[in-house]
Amino acid sequence: MKDKLEKIKNDALAAINSADKLETLNETRVNILGKKGELTQVLKGMKDVSPEDRPKIGQLVNDTRAEIERVLEEATVKLERVIREAQMKSEVIDVTLPAKKNAVGHRHPNQITQEEVERIFVGMGYEVVEGPEIETDYYNFEALNIPADHPAKDEQDTFYINDTYLLRTQTSGTQVHVMEQGKLPIRMIAPGRVFRSDEVDATHSPSFHQIEGLVIDKHITFADLKGTLAEFAKELYGEDIRVRFRPHHFNFTEPSAEMDVSCFKCGGSGCRFCKGTGWIEILGCGMVHPNVLRMSGIDPEEYSGFAFGVGLERIALLKYEIDDMRLLYENDERFLKQF
Ligand code: DAH
Repeated sequence: MKDKLEKIKNDALAAINSADKLETLNETRVNILGKKGELTQVLKGMKDVSPEDRPKIGQLVNDTRAEIERVLEEATVKLERVIREAQMKSEVIDVTLPAKKNAVGHRHPNQITQEEVERIFVGMGYEVVEGPEIETDYYNFEALNIPADHPAKDEQDTFYINDTYLLRTQTSGTQVHVMEQGKLPIRMIAPGRVFRSDEVDATHSPSFHQIEGLVIDKHITFADLKGTLAEFAKELYGEDIRVRFRPHHFNFTEPSAEMDVSCFKCGGSGCRFCKGTGWIEILGCGMVHPNVLRMSGIDPEEYSGFAFGVGLERIALLKYEIDDMRLLYENDERFLKQF
């Protein structure tokens, strides 16, 4: 019996010492100390031991059990520590490694400029609206006092879809959509993409952007137009900027004008930027033509208004001193990330 216990102990210790997994240790525990374990079997066999030997053998079984339990416990603690250390080593964070950078894009210069213009006009109480890029001939031309046979139509090389539909050549049609809704007074700007059958060069593109503006109320005069657009120019280019209005012709406004700003590069003395003139043209404008008001259901005897159209790219190029419009559409990251 004594030899048997000795063998159980030695086998158990050997199994415990060679275990490299907690599961193996647990198996050993079950195999030896468990309900059907080897040592438990020995205990069950005690009834066959003669009564006088029982205390001695019993003591021996208990000692063996205690010894195995002690070694098992030690081995478990040790193995747990080894496993934890290995895990910590594998999960170590090297804070000196260079950080993973996410390449975050940012707003396009057109977008920045558009938001700036929106900010200025919203600050003056204007609403920002959107019109359709596919227009009918009526909204793009007819309702803007440009009849079918008018030569002004030729100036805007239009992408026609069919006789009725076309890609809008100007955002001015949005004026008509807003006026037709019949809610007065109107104070709105309408930024958007426009299309013209132009060849691509440094100052032209078949697709570009405009920001339309329209104010309709009682007693609106040319003085309101001048004051508003002068204020806009100051907010956009700085307090020192001066503006001038040159007479011009647009079918949908009468009188019409183009507005120049004093060259912000040379201050007006003349440079390469302003082609030596000291002035830079930035928009077209005028008092809304009575025909246009009438066609959209507004009584020109009661209401008057002014309108303007700004080329978004034009003011973006000027603002950022970019000398080729194509750069705005190439989406070269090296270019775009400068703004
Ligand atoms: N739509 C004109 C253009 O494309 C710009 C313009 C001029 C708009 C005068 C207006 C305006 O609303 O009153 O050249």
